[in-house]
Amino acid sequence: MSLLEDKYKQFEEKNKVAELGGGQVRIDKQHAAGRKTARERIELLLDPGSFVELDKFVTHRSTDFGMDKTKFLGDGVVSGYGKIDGRLMYVFAQDFTVFGGSLSRANADKIIKVMDLAMKMGAPVIGLNDSGGARIQEGVESLAGYADIFYRNVMSSGVIPQISAVLGPCAGGAVYSPAITDFIMMVKENSYMFVTGPDVIKTVTHEEVTQEELGGAMTHNSKSGVAHLTADDDEQAMMMIRELMSFLPSNNMEDPPMKVSSDDINRIDKKLNELIPADPNKPYDMKELIHAIIDENHFFEIMPYYAENIIIGFARMGGRPVGIVANQPAYLAGVLDINASTKAARFVRFCDAFNIPLVTLEDVPGFLPGTAQEFGGIIKHGAKLLYAFAEATVPKITLITRKAYGGAYDVMSSKHIGADINFAYPTAEIAVMGPAGAVNIIHRAKLADQEFIAEAVEDYKNNFASPYKAAQMGYIDEIIYPQDTRKKIIQALEMTQNKSKNNPAKKHGNIPL
Ligand code: HXC
Repeated sequence: MSLLEDKYKQFEEKNKVAELGGGQVRIDKQHAAGRKTARERIELLLDPGSFVELDKFVTHRSTDFGMDKTKFLGDGVVSGYGKIDGRLMYVFAQDFTVFGGSLSRANADKIIKVMDLAMKMGAPVIGLNDSGGARIQEGVESLAGYADIFYRNVMSSGVIPQISAVLGPCAGGAVYSPAITDFIMMVKENSYMFVTGPDVIKTVTHEEVTQEELGGAMTHNSKSGVAHLTADDDEQAMMMIRELMSFLPSNNMEDPPMKVSSDDINRIDKKLNELIPADPNKPYDMKELIHAIIDENHFFEIMPYYAENIIIGFARMGGRPVGIVANQPAYLAGVLDINASTKAARFVRFCDAFNIPLVTLEDVPGFLPGTAQEFGGIIKHGAKLLYAFAEATVPKITLITRKAYGGAYDVMSSKHIGADINFAYPTAEIAVMGPAGAVNIIHRAKLADQEFIAEAVEDYKNNFASPYKAAQMGYIDEIIYPQDTRKKIIQALEMTQNKSKNNPAKKHGNIPL
């Protein structure tokens, strides 16, 4: 073998060793647990053959606890860049087969490198998390690595999309990097996130709880609202992230990518004329309306299991990505409560940060009354949604399908807080409160006179619980037939596509937290 051949052979061997991570036994263990390896996940996530790995031969520099004798090429994270649908993405995937994917100084430096490159090039970062947390053998160097990552997460927030998938353990301080990113995807029954695990909880609070109950995918997708998406397995998780990225621009200076659609922009849908029940107390499924008006029936819902009284998600209309915020009358009558307000507020801010127009579909009886809500701070949480809609400068189109009562009318992207086009159906009821409640207060002295009260309710309904008062004032730009909804919203999106609006210059606002 020539000297040259020898060098290439050595290089090939090193590559092979690096690609094996913590070795075949640990890879088999990972597979037996129903999980893919870091490299397999990246393969699934990115366009075939597009991944370029960086820092493949990095090793840790730790010497304590005999660590100088245990080194793995790559040191527990696979990082680099590649493409999704031909667009540049940065990615890091923690490799659980090497020291449990734990974060060392060297490992953190690899993640930091791709985060810095992503900011310089204006491209998204996707983090695939599967880690035992801070590298226990390293101590403060590992903690410093986490903090360096958190800092970059914050600086990147609103500049480039940051997506996290939690595909295994994610414990302790490790949860805070995903928490700052825009969306968290979790895999059912195979991933968990918590600040302190079941053992610590048992010692401190004497509660007994399993990992799954404490921090599994469904806990965070339905109870805590920490996570936004769930997948059945790693493969589905990677496909869903690809799909999510198709709605997002690469950075805050770009518009989201248009997609040619064969769905007619003038398509009318007569069945929508029957969707809103004549009885205002009857529920209907707002998702039917969403699916009927968007391109090709394709709705990418975010947080489908959390605060189901409000629906958020991405779709395209006339090929243009939009963020949809819609009250759901089929769940708690579509009322606004703490969870619905915070869920929608964060989504509105995301869409605004990344130039994604907002389409708001409104049917809301008001804010949820009760001590639980008041003590829980519905005032400040409801204010978040109001704040988010008001500060958003992207095109804002609102349609009131039925109820728009009280403060909820103002909050749900009303004309007064900057919506560009406000539609209403003829079935809309825009008033301070529902007819029965209003009459109870206005005619308190005559409540015993049932005939009078019934008449007064009817009167209120005719005069106030309609879209016409608001239309007279110009608060509603146009009353439309439900069958024309798609066409009307697309026209409004086209009309507003060059919208240019800037809020006053400031360091930052002070959203009620
Ligand atoms: C170094 C670690 C490690 C860690 C796991 N490993 N976690 N090595 N530092 N944090 C190693 C194990 O020694 C083992 O090595 C391999 O990874 C696989 O771990 P197992 O325990 O065999 O796997 P499993 O049974 O699946 O359990 C996974 C686990 C458990 C639940 C994550 O490993 C665990 O509890 N790890 C410690 C978690 C933790 O307390 N982390 C620190 C959190 S505090 P071998 O060689 O046997 O394969 C924190 C502070 C950050 O993160 C603060 C930032 C603000």
